[in-house]
Amino acid sequence: MEIDAAAPSGYVVRRATREDLREVIRLNRENLPENYSEEFFEEVLESNPETFLVAEEGGRGGGKRLAGYIMCRVEIGFPLVGRAPLVKKGHVISIAVAPEHRRKGVGMALMVEGMNALRSRGCSEVYLEVRVGNAPAISLYRKLGFRVSRRIPGYYRDGEDAFVMARSL
Ligand SMILES: CC(C)(COP(=O)(O)OP(=O)(O)OC[C@H]1O[C@@H](n2cnc3c(N)ncnc32)[C@H](O)[C@@H]1OP(=O)(O)O)[C@@H](O)C(=O)NCCC(=O)NCCS
Repeated sequence: MEIDAAAPSGYVVRRATREDLREVIRLNRENLPENYSEEFFEEVLESNPETFLVAEEGGRGGGKRLAGYIMCRVEIGFPLVGRAPLVKKGHVISIAVAPEHRRKGVGMALMVEGMNALRSRGCSEVYLEVRVGNAPAISLYRKLGFRVSRRIPGYYRDGEDAFVMARSL
């Protein structure tokens, strides 16, 4: 079932392009401690263009600062939610919204559009890792129906544990 994906008023959510990558990398570095090489972003965009999305303020023209992004990829693996054999799973690798655009529904719209795109690509579930102390993100994922499927001790470089959260699509 498709989830209603309306972006909040004044924003558009669309597929990322190669021209967006500089902005995406800036958002990643400024908003998350988990950073990746430029090549990694390029590789995910090339292999999963349907599920790499950006949010921007619409109707502004000019200044191309993005409000947020979500980078997801399709993987094959054992299900976290169901009991089927190998399934196509969507992995939310990274999501961030710039501080001045938060609490307006942009993160929610990126997640919903990302999940719809993963479903269109044949995924039966979606999962992600999140710091156990990241209350805003955990709250967003819970609102979307994600549940904790396990806890990975010391998952992050600074030693913090991760929750793996998942839901079916
Ligand atoms: C997590 C993040 C993407 C949320 O983006 P956002 O655009 O502010 O989220 P939304 O406005 O769509 O919020 C949707 C819901 O998420 C929850 N939420 C978001 N921010 C929250 C906060 N600071 N405290 C508590 N709940 C919060 C709320 O349930 C909220 O619904 P509400 O506003 O009706 O209460 C954003 O805070 C962010 O980029 N954080 C830094 C990067 C990060 O942690 N990424 C996730 C890594 S796993």
